[in-house]
Amino acid sequence: MTTRAKDGARSQRTLCIDIGGTGLKTMIVSASGKPLSERVRIETPRPATPRAICAALLAVIPERTRFDRVSVGFPGVVADGVTRTAPNLHPAWKGFGLATWVLRSTGRPTRVLNDAGVQGHGVVQGLGTEICVTLGTGFGFSLFVNGHYVPNVEFGHHPFRKGMSYEELLGDAALKRRGKRKWNATLAAAVAQLQDTFNFRALYLGGGNARKVEFKLPRNVKLVDNVAGLLGGVKLWERD
Ligand code: BGC
Repeated sequence: MTTRAKDGARSQRTLCIDIGGTGLKTMIVSASGKPLSERVRIETPRPATPRAICAALLAVIPERTRFDRVSVGFPGVVADGVTRTAPNLHPAWKGFGLATWVLRSTGRPTRVLNDAGVQGHGVVQGLGTEICVTLGTGFGFSLFVNGHYVPNVEFGHHPFRKGMSYEELLGDAALKRRGKRKWNATLAAAVAQLQDTFNFRALYLGGGNARKVEFKLPRNVKLVDNVAGLLGGVKLWERD
């Protein structure tokens, strides 16, 4: 890469979009991870079909001269920019060309990845097995090995206890239904289970409900700011 191209990469501004079960968030971020705009948040429209969400996004996507590329975190399986599942949005997302839609709407190169994957990109250090769990509407999970992302490991839907999945026991609906104390006890058990299963070097807990964590975390488990879900969007452009 020539120096000029490197400088070019350094000045790229990324519009980071996080599509969540309850909120749609956007922020423009510099290549070094500095916020270049306010973080904008609007409610996720319901029913959360591709049509409704795309219409809502059009209202919050800034003027295209303000950014050079776009990263999108999506709450489901994404392969080659096409969404495959969206358990907390709507079945109509199966087979939706989200990357193509964003590219056409903004005229900017676009990368779309699972939301927990984007968040993980924002926090991992690149050593050994690292896991990022997002505690929000759903239970997001991403796995990194020596900094390499293993795509679409949907661990949140793996059975955990009493025939219920991690998401059924630790998603936002479960927190509201079971209360903070039980939710914390189950989360502590889940962290221990993940440690025994993956032998991770580090586990990062993010997402809006990470602030509800009230037990003492093991030394290799850290709470991370939800804004990593947006900042990770810049890192997507640093890989291959
Ligand atoms: C989805 C994941 C997503 C998580 C958090 C789960 O229901 O299956 O893909 O990362 O929710 O949004």
